[in-house]
Amino acid sequence: MPNKYEKWTKNELIEYIRQHEQSKKYGLVWEESTESKDSDIHIPVLVEDKSRRINKKFSSTNNQLSQISLELNAEQESDNANDFHILIESDNEPALRALTALYDKKVDIIYIDPPYNTGNKDFRYKDTFRRHTHEYRHSEWLSFMEKRLRLAYTLLADDGIIFISIDDNEHAHLRLLLDEIFGEHNFIVNIVRRCKSGAGHDTDKVAIEFDYVLCYGKNASQTVFAQQEVHTEKDKKYKYADEYSGRRGKYYLRDLDYKGSYSKTLDYPITMPDGTMLYPGGTEGKPNTWRWSKKKYEWGKTHGFIVEKKNKSGQWKVYIKQYQYVDNNDAIRRRYIPYRGLCEFMNGVGSNELRSILHQDIFHYPKPTALIKFLIGLHNNSRHVRVLDFFAGSGTTCHAVLSLNSEDGGNRQCILITNNENNICAEVCYPRLKNVMSGYKDSKNKEIQGLGGELRYYTVEENIVKNQKRKIL
Ligand SMILES: C[S@@+](CC[C@H](N)C(=O)[O-])C[C@H]1O[C@@H](n2cnc3c(N)ncnc32)[C@H](O)[C@@H]1O
Repeated sequence: MPNKYEKWTKNELIEYIRQHEQSKKYGLVWEESTESKDSDIHIPVLVEDKSRRINKKFSSTNNQLSQISLELNAEQESDNANDFHILIESDNEPALRALTALYDKKVDIIYIDPPYNTGNKDFRYKDTFRRHTHEYRHSEWLSFMEKRLRLAYTLLADDGIIFISIDDNEHAHLRLLLDEIFGEHNFIVNIVRRCKSGAGHDTDKVAIEFDYVLCYGKNASQTVFAQQEVHTEKDKKYKYADEYSGRRGKYYLRDLDYKGSYSKTLDYPITMPDGTMLYPGGTEGKPNTWRWSKKKYEWGKTHGFIVEKKNKSGQWKVYIKQYQYVDNNDAIRRRYIPYRGLCEFMNGVGSNELRSILHQDIFHYPKPTALIKFLIGLHNNSRHVRVLDFFAGSGTTCHAVLSLNSEDGGNRQCILITNNENNICAEVCYPRLKNVMSGYKDSKNKEIQGLGGELRYYTVEENIVKNQKRKIL
């Protein structure tokens, strides 16, 4: 696509950038690339291809899907729009514009995996914006992404989250672009994903075996993330047992001596078995205290929750028994911690999943469903979210949503948009979802039960109003 700035002299370009810098002190400046120069207004409209409907029909036993069959060309309308997933075969820019009329601020999670602009020509889809060495390759990619991300921003609910897979080719530029669209204060995390092993063959410098998932909130301060429960069953720290262990689980010894904010009431002497009087930290006064008040210590001592013993240097120490399943008042203890921003979801797993559904290597590097399930699970209300993916490719995101719904009975809805470059939508995405919903035989001829769900297939038609100033929604 010709770029108007390419014909400029170096001095003209410097002057252009200088003028931009006057109005803008910090951030990203690039040469905007226009995808279409026409002056008509294009009003995109979603048009359903009913012949491609995938409807579920199931008899239910104990609320489980027991039998699922496909019914194409179904005439029956569903009452509830959330009951079906949506696949839109289209360039995502008009499709997103069409969605703004229906789902403004109604999307909870956006996950996208845009072309990384790697320069690689082996993919089924275009992954190169200009020659890899071309000086405008980032500009074109940024112009392409900016338009789509601004539309995505309007679709996102006030407490919505966006996740974007990316690698080092465009990570730095994307981060600044997102700062501009979402605001730097809405940056939440840059998740680092180990995605492959043995990448040493690709480089003579340092093996890159990871990519990233950039995450922003529409309003990060309003965004609550789910946390993961801490399971202690396999934690070797809990190694001691006593008469309470049947209910309380095993325990470890936690030092009663504590160096934090000082309080006089927590600085009292405890009498050791040989009569020695022990103060926290060894002597009375700052900085150490006991963790428990005198009353609580005496309660613990009476019930056998306190252990006093000498350490290797012969000094007395006092410990609390910290049990696996209950706190010291015998209340069941459930502990939660934030999920980690460092994860491992290997690309090979995604390729195997797709191969096993479609029986051929038809699309390189689909993301593993487990990655998308993990990201959706970070949303605090994850069972009832509307998820949008507008670079859907092979449809991994909808597969992940179907899988989660079938696991926990949630009613997540998925909206996918993908173009049909090299028949990706018709030959990869749609057949994948059809198989996953209705059941299929995997590459080892094993029967895989369908996950259920309904899908409707749309294309986008543009109503054109001639010779008008174009206004992007
Ligand atoms: C990196 S792939 C996404 C792969 C996907 N995450 C998966 O697991 O299968 C990017 C996809 O976006 C599609 N795509 C690229 N530009 C697009 C556009 N402007 N509109 C719609 N789809 C586009 C490509 O055809 C490609 O299938």
